[in-house]
Amino acid sequence: MLEAKGQFFYDEQGRKYHDCVNNISHVGHSNKLVHDALVSQNLKLNTNTRYLYNIINEYSDRLLKTFPKQLNKIFFVCTGSEANDLALRIAKNYTKAQNVLVMDNAYHGHTNSLIDLSPYKFKSKGGAGKKDFVHVLRMPDEIRGKWTKQNNKWINRYIEEAKEIIKKHFNKKNSLSCFFFESILGCGGQIELPKGYLKNIIKLVRQKNALCIADEVQTGFGRVGSNFWAFEEHEIVPDIVTLGKPMGNGHPIAAVVTTKKIADTFNNGMEYFNSFGGNPVSCAVGNAVLDVIEKDNLQKNSKIVGNYFLKNLRNIQKKFPNYISKISGKGLFIGIDLIINGNFLLPNPKLATKLINSLRLKGILLSTDGPYNNVIKIKPPLVFNKDNVNFVCSEIYKFLIDEDKK
Ligand SMILES: Cc1ncc(COP(=O)(O)O)c(C=O)c1O
Repeated sequence: MLEAKGQFFYDEQGRKYHDCVNNISHVGHSNKLVHDALVSQNLKLNTNTRYLYNIINEYSDRLLKTFPKQLNKIFFVCTGSEANDLALRIAKNYTKAQNVLVMDNAYHGHTNSLIDLSPYKFKSKGGAGKKDFVHVLRMPDEIRGKWTKQNNKWINRYIEEAKEIIKKHFNKKNSLSCFFFESILGCGGQIELPKGYLKNIIKLVRQKNALCIADEVQTGFGRVGSNFWAFEEHEIVPDIVTLGKPMGNGHPIAAVVTTKKIADTFNNGMEYFNSFGGNPVSCAVGNAVLDVIEKDNLQKNSKIVGNYFLKNLRNIQKKFPNYISKISGKGLFIGIDLIINGNFLLPNPKLATKLINSLRLKGILLSTDGPYNNVIKIKPPLVFNKDNVNFVCSEIYKFLIDEDKK
């Protein structure tokens, strides 16, 4: 790639690509406002949090306004992994416990501590397997899970199973520190957690005096459209929220947001210092990203364009039930689940790979994910528009027509 602008990439041969998988360039590639904010702050002052400067307070106050009021303390870091690692440290410090509960197929980051909490990594090629202190909840997958939408009260079954796991494993001697979750399981295959699920799991976790940590690294900053944070879809308030990727539109800035009580406990004399986290340039960039989200109404755009995308993809699904079992997601965080011969129990990773490779030649960049690699994931910059959706959907449609002829 040579250049990128808005929702497009341009390669060295001058070919243009629709970028459908970049939830880092949230407000669009090479955004001028974000760039100008970075440059002008860099020419003025760039230092670290051993010094006092205003922009960190201005940005913190503004960002915290997007959260429920009890989440009113923020720690700045540089990456999503750092945010989750710090969240884990804060949770362990608060609870004095070591055990962690995670969702199956989750990915929370690349550090030693987070590979241990990422079944997506520790279960797969090269992975060292699950550690004893890690406990995994089954994904409530409505089509391919142990219990599916076809079962009566299927969601309750998952909650009951979680209750058993929590009851069996955690006690005063062997206690639980925290539960990490994404509100839409990204690496799990863009699976939306069903309504009521998180509310119940969080209740069970809190009965054990453990903390609930929402990983918003992928889903945050208006991507889901109807809310600024994906956890809000579930009418819950986590104890800790971690932010990353879209926060700096490509600039390395990330954060941990929590309550005063938890932050105060963490302030135990050891001191939290981060050479780059919260530096003035990063804060200026973060602030500019919020400016663009507001000025260009990007959360609303994500809702409108996301709904349009979902509707169009569902129309394609109706025409090709043999290939597509489900269109999932919210806003501009979408998944297309591909199957063999209309059998939703037979994921079709081959077709998924063929589709993304074929669409790349048409100028559309997509990728696959999920435990079977059969889900096409779609998470473009939020400047994506209806024309872009029409183009992507028409190419998917043409691909499936050609596939049908074979
Ligand atoms: C849900 C989630 N959490 C955390 C991370 C780690 O973020 P980073 O790559 O910035 O360390 C990722 C990265 O893909 C992610 O998808």
